Amino acid sequence: MRQQIVAGNWKMNKTAVEAEALVRNVIEILSKNPSESVVVFAPPFVHLQRVAQIISQSPVHVSRVFTAAQDCHWEESGAYTGEVSAAMIKSVGATHAIIGHSERRTYFKENNQLLARKIDVAFKNELLPIYCCGESIMERKNDHHFKTIEKQIAEGLFHLSENDFLNVIIAYEPVWAIGTGETATPEQAQEMHAFIRDLLSQKYGGETAENISILYGGSCKPSNSKVLFAQPDIDGGLIGGASLEAEDFLAIIHSF
Ligand code: PGA
Repeated sequence: MRQQIVAGNWKMNKTAVEAEALVRNVIEILSKNPSESVVVFAPPFVHLQRVAQIISQSPVHVSRVFTAAQDCHWEESGAYTGEVSAAMIKSVGATHAIIGHSERRTYFKENNQLLARKIDVAFKNELLPIYCCGESIMERKNDHHFKTIEKQIAEGLFHLSENDFLNVIIAYEPVWAIGTGETATPEQAQEMHAFIRDLLSQKYGGETAENISILYGGSCKPSNSKVLFAQPDIDGGLIGGASLEAEDFLAIIHSF
């Protein structure tokens, strides 16, 4: 179902003590000042179990808070030193997995075909994927941004049945806006989100497309989240830097 979602992608930040403090802080304030939106924490793998535990022990009115892994491996198990499987992620209480973040695509050479396999293994283990797409600055300058996004979505997701597809969350994150302080304008973001929804509609029909949450990511912060989230096809955000401070993350959560 189409939901308003604010997900915090911590990337490679926070020690165990810092992670626990941040989650407790956010949850405590959320329990006093609840939000209608779904909140997702995506800490590094080593903190997943603790974060999921803290959330599960929190008061009922913050029950719309979930834990996501930042990635998962494409195989069920095996000789992949240093890697983490979807089954392991599920077993420690996480419910979602970010798949295809541009930093994974760039630094770890993950392509759409590989990401399609990660999507499948996530579903097999009942993890909900947050699938990321986004164009580089060159692709936008050369007017290839729509083609890039279409390819990333078609090759990564369009093998899914309509039933599975309904459980996908999409995050549009223009690479040039991630961690740069440069945000897509609300018009640029809305234009791409509407384009994505139209793609989904052509593939799975209008009703399914209307039910998919499409998040914006890329230097989303308290000063711009309200205007971004007010766009008709933006259903929330995948937040990097601004999710590392409770106050900023909460301000974004309360931006709807
Ligand atoms: P940023 O990162 O908010 O720090 O730009 C967003 C992301 O990479 O998910």
